Amino acid sequence: MPTVVVVGTQWGDEGKGKITDYLALESDVVVRYQGGPNAGHTVVVNDEVFQLHLLPSGILYPEKLSVIGNGVVVDPEVLVKEIQGLQSRGRDISGLRISARAHLIMPYHRVLDALQEESKGEGKIGTTLKGVGPAYMDKSARVGIRVADLLEPDVFIQRLEANLRDKNRVLKYIYGREELEAGPIIESYLKAGEILRPYITDTAILINRAIRQGKKVLFEGAQGTLLDLDHGTYPYVTSSHPVAGGACIGAGVGPTRIDEVVGVAKAYTSRVGDGPFPTELNDEIGNWIRETGHEYGVTTGRPRRIGWLDLMMINYASVLNGLTAIALTRLDVLCGLDKVKVAYAYRRGGQVITEFPASFRELADCEPVYEEFPGWPEIDPAAKSIDDLHPNARQFVEFISEKTGLEAAIISLGRARDQSLTLRDLFG
Ligand code: IMO
Ligand code: MG
Repeated sequence: MPTVVVVGTQWGDEGKGKITDYLALESDVVVRYQGGPNAGHTVVVNDEVFQLHLLPSGILYPEKLSVIGNGVVVDPEVLVKEIQGLQSRGRDISGLRISARAHLIMPYHRVLDALQEESKGEGKIGTTLKGVGPAYMDKSARVGIRVADLLEPDVFIQRLEANLRDKNRVLKYIYGREELEAGPIIESYLKAGEILRPYITDTAILINRAIRQGKKVLFEGAQGTLLDLDHGTYPYVTSSHPVAGGACIGAGVGPTRIDEVVGVAKAYTSRVGDGPFPTELNDEIGNWIRETGHEYGVTTGRPRRIGWLDLMMINYASVLNGLTAIALTRLDVLCGLDKVKVAYAYRRGGQVITEFPASFRELADCEPVYEEFPGWPEIDPAAKSIDDLHPNARQFVEFISEKTGLEAAIISLGRARDQSLTLRDLFG
């Protein structure tokens, strides 16, 4: 029963795409379980760069099943574009499966995402404006429209019209905006539905059957633990559950079916959007890391905020996800720095804090306590064992293991698939 969940331990953009793609090589089924087109996963195959938003990273292996689970919110127009983009590059996507129970992002969700952000002014969250939050709001309010509805035009039209009556009142009377017409939405969504039809199915049944048959199933989280709706730095979070428990709900598998949970941690921290960030570097080093690591949003193009690695955060993520291992990424980006710092505690009002605070004001007041390491000049992208790493980089990795109590099962040495060092086989 080898099943592995891959989760982000920070604020997203930890390199989950690279790690999932790498683990996908060994797995039979890859499942996305939450989030939507707000995600941006970069995968490099033979020097070709792929940027995925809705499609699971496994899609680049034609013989594997790549599943969009029920917990994902699907924008059919974005998905069709992504599918056609891959097809035009000669990729075979016949392994795609889409849950009939997944909810749809509708045009009014995108409009409302922007209007809600605008009306928050200074207090805005800095969302990706893809309509993700409003789509999950409608799901919870039980007025959402689902993938299954795309295949039953009369049901789709009925649900859309009911929604539009409500949304148009909000657009017109609250925001003073133009109302949306049903016609063009119906045309575009039903057309997308026909393109997606061959891939739509009951994915929970399919995943559980695969697990029963002893197949290797990989659950791919988007975003990260600190963006989780319940456990993240609320309200600066996304509207879904990136934590490992989200895999159970968003894919339809029981908690007893999960074997390993690997937390992807970047060798430094980044964050897009607003909210407190204790180890943030508003200086030359931060700028240098941003440029060297190309830390600009895949989805929005926004420059990411950069800071040192924060083990308070990784330890918090470890507890919430029940991590069994870490996958460490982007050690190569830090090559050439004189010194590298890692926060392992916080200080607040003269006191040392060892638990990640829930109050965002408290978090904003925290001063990180750092351990400083000499930098490493290079990372050998072809390293075959931990001993092939520069001693300073090794010391950095060992410190992380010591402070988190977790082994680094995978160390990423560069962007490409084969630039990865496996220290423990997670499917073993
Ligand atoms: P991947 O999968 C980084 C952030 C947004 C914003 C907050 C809410 O590439 O790691 P949303 O549009 O989800 O309602 O925005 O969450 N955010 C991400 N940050 N990586 C992501 O995905 C993100 N998805 C959402 O910037 O702060
Ligand atoms: Mg991203």
